Amino acid sequence: MAENADVNAGVDAVIDAEVGAVEGAVEAADEAAVDWDWATAEEGDGEPRTELRTDVPHPARMYDYYLGGKDNFPADRAAAEQVVKLIPTVQDAARANRRFLGRAVRYASSLGIRQFLDIGTGIPTAENTHEVAQRLAPESRIVYVDNDPMVLTHARALLSSTPRGRTAYVDADFHDVDTILDAAAVKELIDFEQPVALLVVALLHFLPDSDDPFALLDRYKQALAPGSVLILTHGSSDHTPQEIRDAVTGIYQAGGITIATRTHDEIRRFGTSGDDGWELAGPGVVSINEWQAGDEPVGDEDLRLTRAEVGGYGVVAFKKS
Ligand SMILES: C[S@@+](CC[C@H](N)C(=O)[O-])C[C@H]1O[C@@H](n2cnc3c(N)ncnc32)[C@H](O)[C@@H]1O
Repeated sequence: MAENADVNAGVDAVIDAEVGAVEGAVEAADEAAVDWDWATAEEGDGEPRTELRTDVPHPARMYDYYLGGKDNFPADRAAAEQVVKLIPTVQDAARANRRFLGRAVRYASSLGIRQFLDIGTGIPTAENTHEVAQRLAPESRIVYVDNDPMVLTHARALLSSTPRGRTAYVDADFHDVDTILDAAAVKELIDFEQPVALLVVALLHFLPDSDDPFALLDRYKQALAPGSVLILTHGSSDHTPQEIRDAVTGIYQAGGITIATRTHDEIRRFGTSGDDGWELAGPGVVSINEWQAGDEPVGDEDLRLTRAEVGGYGVVAFKKS
């Protein structure tokens, strides 16, 4: 009995500590949002939103959990763990997605691109776009955009630019094309007469067909100068059995998150419809872990993964005219 009491006391202490940590994180996050520094970044849609809704899962925080981050809450972890049970390699897939982002940004930089618009940024983690780009070219300018209040609260980590470069964060939604393209930070940091790298990495599968993500993306692509590149990844069920796909979609839906995995051909259409002046770079539309271009080979961690384990495609396309 005494032993059981000890165990229960231990469990209670762990739960108390966890609840305390979560409450502390929410408080810190809210404070950070309230302390938002209007001088260093422009907001896309007015006041920073502080409603973190920690009781329901959020895509950015579930992804943070997959990457081993600490910026997630019990609801995020519960949903993410359900996904891990169905797809045990989802964390490897998330890491492969980050490595793709690094390779693609280095490729864009090797083409001379110095301006990056990264929509669906995610919670800051290792090798954020500005860190990769500014390591190669310190003068690179990066504008991050996300619609998740949790990302907003961490935006300062995204603003740590090299002295020669610039970074900014815009709190806005991908659907609001004009809000993003007209945001003061975008206008200040991005010269649309010059080539831009537009990143929509692991974003478009959160948009159902009814939102017409193809038309929305097209509006961004049209704003870009020749020589610009589009960098994207997208979840696909081409290599996933239907019952797993349905179960995973159900987990996200239960948390109010839409997941629209798409086929190889559909994802290719995001890159180019064939006669729109855009051309695929590198190997075309391939499994995220297989995409490479230029001199940088794919590393061993990626070579070890199968297409089914990664569950998505990577695309880099460039604008010819
Ligand atoms: C899976 S994370 C990807 C993060 C990062 N791009 C990467 O690939 O490592 C998806 C991000 O997209 C953001 N997001 C989802 N829907 C969005 C929307 N409609 N507008 C802006 N951001 C969105 C989420 O908040 C989340 O931070």
